[in-house]
Amino acid sequence: MNQLTAERPNYGNWVSTKLLYIPGVLGVLFAALSVLFPWLGILAVIFLLCFAYFAYARWCFSPEGKNIQTKIQSLLVDHFEWAGTGKVLDIGCGSGAVTIMVAKKYPDAHVTGIDYWGGAWEYSKGVCERNAQIEGVSNRVTFQKASASSLPFDDESFDAVISNLTFHEVADTEEKGLLIKEALRVLKKGGVFVFQDLFLWKRVYGEVEDLLDRVRSWGVESVELIHTSQSQFIPKALKLPFMVGTIGILRGRK
Ligand SMILES: C[S@@+](CC[C@H](N)C(=O)[O-])C[C@H]1O[C@@H](n2cnc3c(N)ncnc32)[C@H](O)[C@@H]1O
Repeated sequence: MNQLTAERPNYGNWVSTKLLYIPGVLGVLFAALSVLFPWLGILAVIFLLCFAYFAYARWCFSPEGKNIQTKIQSLLVDHFEWAGTGKVLDIGCGSGAVTIMVAKKYPDAHVTGIDYWGGAWEYSKGVCERNAQIEGVSNRVTFQKASASSLPFDDESFDAVISNLTFHEVADTEEKGLLIKEALRVLKKGGVFVFQDLFLWKRVYGEVEDLLDRVRSWGVESVELIHTSQSQFIPKALKLPFMVGTIGILRGRK
């Protein structure tokens, strides 16, 4: 067994360590200062509660905890039904988890994962490439730095497009629906798309029926929304709108 096959992939955690350190440090600081200024005790309690919540969420998402992150990614890949030959694009691939799952599910596919890899996440192109090598699919995956808001690909250059929990994160596009339009631009006519995001959060995407009508107006043959937020395996505490309580899968054919 060579060294890489003995190693385990690192898919990171959607709750970054920053989300723990910042409220944790502020909570302890305000708790200490509340000895002098008692009213700061309220802030200390708020920050320590935030710390406790994010620590629990991080444990739920991790493989050592409830493994919810992998289960949500698998849920998307399970809903990705495709002939299996050709080129797939994974938008916002993070640590490469979905890209690699797709490559393993479809041995005749080549999968390209793109991501912005900004400072908010503990992901990188190097982490993706290492994971792909450990999982034995590095000859059929490519990772590239790019933004979901302006994909560096010609129109109709992919046979299928997939994306998991990325569009709501894209800071330079206020109207998140436009990211779906951009993803559909690079999809071939007759190709399959499957996107999971906070589609049931009206503040981000508006009414579901309006969203579906907009997607239809961009010339797709079929589109449906599958409500995944109420899946049994997701703990109640994670079903807040900004966590995974409003996730859904938008899938169809162009
Ligand atoms: C919640 S993570 C999901 C990552 C991955 N899809 C997964 O299932 O683990 C959100 C991802 O969106 C990426 N992202 C944020 N803004 C982006 C942009 N403008 N273009 C591409 N990716 C972006 C982040 O870097 C991060 O990897």
